[in-house]
Amino acid sequence: MKIAVIGYGGMGTFHTECLKQYAKTGSEPLTLAGIYDIDASREKAAEANGLYAYRSADELLSDKSVGAVIIATPNDVHAEYVKAAAEAGKHVVSEKPIGLSLRQAEEMYGYAEKAGIVFEVHQNRRWDDDFLTVKNIYDHAGYIGDVYRLESRVMGGNGIPGDWRKKAAHGGGMMLDWGVHLIDQMLQMVKSSVSSLYCEYSYIYGEEVEDGCRLSVKFENGVEYFVTVSTDCFRPLPRWQVYGTEGTATVAGWDLSGGMTRAIVRHDDNIAGIRAGNGFTRTMAPRIGDTVEEKVLPVVHAEPFAFYKNFAAACAGKEPAAIKKEEVLRVFRLMEAAARSAKENIVIKEKI
Ligand SMILES: NC(=O)c1ccc[n+]([C@@H]2O[C@H](COP(=O)([O-])OP(=O)(O)OC[C@H]3O[C@@H](n4cnc5c(N)ncnc54)[C@H](O)[C@@H]3O)[C@@H](O)[C@H]2O)c1
Repeated sequence: MKIAVIGYGGMGTFHTECLKQYAKTGSEPLTLAGIYDIDASREKAAEANGLYAYRSADELLSDKSVGAVIIATPNDVHAEYVKAAAEAGKHVVSEKPIGLSLRQAEEMYGYAEKAGIVFEVHQNRRWDDDFLTVKNIYDHAGYIGDVYRLESRVMGGNGIPGDWRKKAAHGGGMMLDWGVHLIDQMLQMVKSSVSSLYCEYSYIYGEEVEDGCRLSVKFENGVEYFVTVSTDCFRPLPRWQVYGTEGTATVAGWDLSGGMTRAIVRHDDNIAGIRAGNGFTRTMAPRIGDTVEEKVLPVVHAEPFAFYKNFAAACAGKEPAAIKKEEVLRVFRLMEAAARSAKENIVIKEKI
C-alpha cells in the first residue's frame, strides 16, 4: 500500500524517514508516495530529500494509488484532513492529539466509521522502551513488589517551541502536546478506573496556553500516578520514579539509565543516624548496604516500527488496529477533566 504524509514539518519529516527505513525491513509493505505541505519551502525541502511533493491536498487525495495518509499538521488542522481523506476512501493516521476536544474526536471517528476506513491516532509512545520497561516492573510484582505510586515526567528547558504550539486556536499547550502521551501511557499501564484527579497548569513564559502541567490521579485500585510536563527546567528530575511495596525503581531517561533498589528488610531496626544540615536524623538516613540490594532494570525493547507494521496489517484486515477509539476518547475525557481541575482549582471526583 502507498502512503502519503500531509504536513512535512518536524513530525512529518520523522514519519517519512521512518517509512523509508521501514520499507527496507520487507515486512507488511508501506511505500511512501510523497508529501503535501501548505508551505512551499517545505515542498522544496521534501524534493531535496528525494520525495514527491504534491502541489495540493486535492492532488494527493485524488491519487488513486495512495491507500493511506498520515496527517502531521498542527493540531487544529487534523480534523478537516481526516474528514477529507476518509471521504476519499484512504485509511488515516492522525498525529496526536487527535483533535482539539472530545467532541471533535468523536466526530472524527464518525467520519472514519461512515467511510469504513482504518483510523488510528499516532500514540507512538506506547512503544517507548522506557515506558515498556516501567510497565514490565508494574506488571510483575517480582521486581519491586506491588507498585502503588508512579511519577512520570518530561522536563524541558526550551519553553514552548515554534509558533502554533503557543496558540490556543491551533491546539497549543503542553497538555495536548505532551500530556496526551503521558496520560495515554498511564491508562495503558494501570488497568483500573480513575476515581479522582487534580491538575495545575503553569504559565511561566506568559503565553496564552500552559507551558507545563502537573496532574495527580488516584485509581480505584489504590494506585497514585503523577504526571509532570514542564518546559522551564534546566536540571530535569528522572523520567520515571516507581514505588513498590518491596523497592523503588528509577528510569532516568530515554537512555534507560537508572536501576532498582530492593529492600531486603523493609523496616531497618538498627538505623545509624546521620548529621544532616544543622541537625540529626534517623528517618532520612540512607539505607545501609546489607538491608537493600541493587538490581539492574528489566529493560524491554519495542519491536522496531511496531506502529507502522500494525497499521499496515490493520489496513490489510490482518490485525486489529493497536490504538483503539475507546482508549483515545478516554484520554480526552481525562484531559478535559484535568483542564477543568486546573481552571477551577478543584479536585475532580469522577469515574473515568
Ligand atoms: N507523536 C509524536 O511523537 C509527535 C511529535 C511531534 C509532533 N507531533 C504532532 O505532529 C503534528 C505536527 O507537529 P510538528 O512538530 O511536526 O509541527 P511543525 O510546525 O514542525 O510542522 C507542521 C507542518 O504542517 C504544515 N501545515 C500547516 N498547516 C497545513 C495545512 N493546512 N495543510 C498542509 N500542511 C500544513 C506546516 O507548514 C508545517 O510544515 C502535531 O499534531 C503534533 O502534536 C507528534
